[in-house]
Amino acid sequence: MHAASTIVAVTAGPPEERPPHTPADLNTLEPAIWPRTSGRTGGAVTIGGIDVRDLAKEFGTPLYVVDEEDFRSRCREYRSAFHDGEVHYAAKAFLCREVARWIDQEGLGLDVCSAGELAVALSVGFPPARITLHGNNKSLAELEKAVQTGVGHIVVDSFEEIARLGFLAEKHGVRPKVMIRVTVGVEAHTHEFIATAHDDQKFGLSLSGGAAAEAVRRILALPQLELTGLHSHIGSQITDVGGFEVAARRLATLLVEIKEEHGVVLPELDLGGGYGIPYVTGDESLDVKVIADGLREIVTKVCESAGLPVPRLTVEPGRSIAGLSGVTLYEAGTVKNVEGLRTYVSVDGGMSDNVRTALYGAEYTAVLASRESQAGPMLSRLVGKHCESGDMVVRDLYLPGDLAPGDLIAVAGTGAYCRSLASNYNYLPKPAVVAVSNGQARVIIRRETEDDLLRGQL
Ligand code: LLP
Repeated sequence: MHAASTIVAVTAGPPEERPPHTPADLNTLEPAIWPRTSGRTGGAVTIGGIDVRDLAKEFGTPLYVVDEEDFRSRCREYRSAFHDGEVHYAAKAFLCREVARWIDQEGLGLDVCSAGELAVALSVGFPPARITLHGNNKSLAELEKAVQTGVGHIVVDSFEEIARLGFLAEKHGVRPKVMIRVTVGVEAHTHEFIATAHDDQKFGLSLSGGAAAEAVRRILALPQLELTGLHSHIGSQITDVGGFEVAARRLATLLVEIKEEHGVVLPELDLGGGYGIPYVTGDESLDVKVIADGLREIVTKVCESAGLPVPRLTVEPGRSIAGLSGVTLYEAGTVKNVEGLRTYVSVDGGMSDNVRTALYGAEYTAVLASRESQAGPMLSRLVGKHCESGDMVVRDLYLPGDLAPGDLIAVAGTGAYCRSLASNYNYLPKPAVVAVSNGQARVIIRRETEDDLLRGQL
């Protein structure tokens, strides 16, 4: 090949060699990745004290299983780490009526970004004062609903929205609390589609370009709105805490500048979510308390050195509360060895219940769940039943060599952004969601039926 050539031919070769797995490795459930109450009893995986074979028998597959204790314990960890602030669960990770009840009972607030998410919360009596409305293009109807129901905060994401909110506040004779979403210019180390603090994207108002400062001026000029603080969310599935720290420092510095320009002290900073979780062996786990202490220290330093009172901090974790509580159970349908390459294990769901592998190149851990196996490792690809070859649940993994149709496979870390991103592609009904706790299983979202699929059509 000529040295000057910029086009490099890539030839499909044998799959990348990975460290060999022993049968014991293949049966192991790594505690950092699997739900906190999971284990193996008599060979089969159990979650919340229930054997996955019983779950599959009673509720069918594919099945989303949520470990309620895992979910709630993470809520409590956030609350205790941010004991002097607010924790708002980001509904987009996974919301249903029962989860809204858990969030309420655990004393967290809720972030919503659509009228639909707001409706789910309100339907179970979630206190509106603990709800924040987000979104880069909230409709007038969504804004009006938020103003009318008295949600705690509305995070302003554009100049248009300032005018719309001013109008609605006047119309309804209320004075909503608003924050400004600031684009702080941090390059978060995550997939491009879920990084949100660099300047060239749709969210927020730029710090460096002056749009954020202009939004402050415009809101302060409108007596109908109460500006309470600033907001930043730098992206999702971030494990390098440096990005969160830079964002916190920049937001706190803007608070100081606002005080200097307007003589106004804003009492709140919302630092968003985005805390990453481990999906596969070797992924980093973040310590919530370390994050909380670090962020508090940075904001305190900046504000105190400028003679400003320390603002109340809010964070908005979604994935790091819901993600590891969820497991998807599938039944293997076909096991196809492609000579010299790998074995394709097809399950009864796929990209309609978990699009993250296809969309972001996400990685997952999966095991044979209905039994233990002493067979050696088989290089595999866990694929779905949809009509496209990008329909992968786990791109590269080792499964036991004796895996056979009828076996149950569990995929870890599917509690966030799987059900909420699910589709009916190929007219597959969405799976049920079952919450397990102390040996009890409850359907919290029922499985869709063919009638559901036909509903609403001419
Ligand atoms: N706050 C705001 C304003 C957000 O936009 C988000 C997520 C969060 C909080 C919660 O972020 P988390 O703690 O869950 O990372 N579908 C993608 C993730 C999109 C995240 C969107 N915003 C995925 O599956 O990875």
